[in-house]
Amino acid sequence: MISPVLPTYNRAPMAFTHGKGAWLTAEDGRRYLDLGAGIAVNALGHAHPALVEALTEQAGKVWHVSNVYRIPEQEALAERLVEATFADTVFFTNSGTEAAELAVKMARKYWYEQGQPERVEILTFEGAFHGRSSAAIAAAGSEKMTKGFGPLLPGFRQLPWGDIAALKDAIGPQTAAVMLEPLQGEGGIRSLPDDALRAIRALCDEAGALLILDEVQCGMGRTGRLFAHEWAGIAPDIMMVAKGIGGGFPLGAVLATEKAASGMTAGTHGSTYGGNPLACAVGDAVTRIIADPGFLAEVNRKGALFAQGLESLVARHPTVLEAVRGQGLMLGLKCKVANTDLVKAGYEAGVLIVGAADNVVRLLPALNIEDADIAEALRRLDQAATALDA
Ligand SMILES: Cc1ncc(COP(=O)(O)O)c(C=O)c1O
Repeated sequence: MISPVLPTYNRAPMAFTHGKGAWLTAEDGRRYLDLGAGIAVNALGHAHPALVEALTEQAGKVWHVSNVYRIPEQEALAERLVEATFADTVFFTNSGTEAAELAVKMARKYWYEQGQPERVEILTFEGAFHGRSSAAIAAAGSEKMTKGFGPLLPGFRQLPWGDIAALKDAIGPQTAAVMLEPLQGEGGIRSLPDDALRAIRALCDEAGALLILDEVQCGMGRTGRLFAHEWAGIAPDIMMVAKGIGGGFPLGAVLATEKAASGMTAGTHGSTYGGNPLACAVGDAVTRIIADPGFLAEVNRKGALFAQGLESLVARHPTVLEAVRGQGLMLGLKCKVANTDLVKAGYEAGVLIVGAADNVVRLLPALNIEDADIAEALRRLDQAATALDA
């Protein structure tokens, strides 16, 4: 018999009653060190006092009004994001998928308004994950996500990951945009060298195509910069953000230049909940903390500390682990055993880690994880790997 909750997830049996920082407590009282952070969502850990305060204070004022009115909390967050990034303007969504939808619409509308309505193709890369809507699965293109859900939305073409020569061949006057994650998350913590990202930007400029970066998972300080593309010294035309920006409250955003957004005039897009006062009050508190250069310097220091410990973990367990991947606190362990076995052994050892494609487990802890918790995480991961050594 089907469960009351639609069974689209293979869920682990634990349920959690509360959390604090990088720790979650399960119904049976057992404490787990959370290295998944709700898949890169709880960027400031669980129950961060500034976020609890922002949410409860806003909850006592007004929860929802509709985007037919001005929303000062939304304006404040948009101004903060514009100030901190390449962007001139922001649209708020409830999720990364909705951000992907708007990014695609915005790029196509731009060309429509430029008098080139045939310019609709979006070039994407294999291993990508942009969400589960019809546009997002067509963009990613993998059989796992698209099988049985046809007919697929047309106008997307996937290229081998990071293949600049293939992009050079594919890009042209039919290309509306190139869309990619600077550091693939679901695809297995697969990074793109800074040179490759610069080459992609240059190819977009030559062809006149827009560059859409999906920073839903790798953005908001995860790699040690506010946004991952900053490492390469380039800027996109359109960027998708979600996950960490809400710190656990559903919030996403599309950031864009004035030029890229020029087709999105009144009536062309909307959302009932997107950018509501509760979400934006929390998002503003999150962004204020993460955009601080001192905070980001700490993410880099902690990321290096964690990665160093993981390298020695790999060296100690050569039959279980193969390599460390990633940047900042967006780290991955390429496994020799099935990654699902390591995730399960992690549960036994009291540490929450998350699988990804390419037989990788992801380590995406709260960005403000304590050094002592990193040490404890390494101890528990060692315990999990030892259990699989045999
Ligand atoms: C890079 C990327 N883009 C888009 C999404 C979709 O975001 P959401 O699940 O919030 O719709 C995800 C979610 O994992 C993601 O990692």
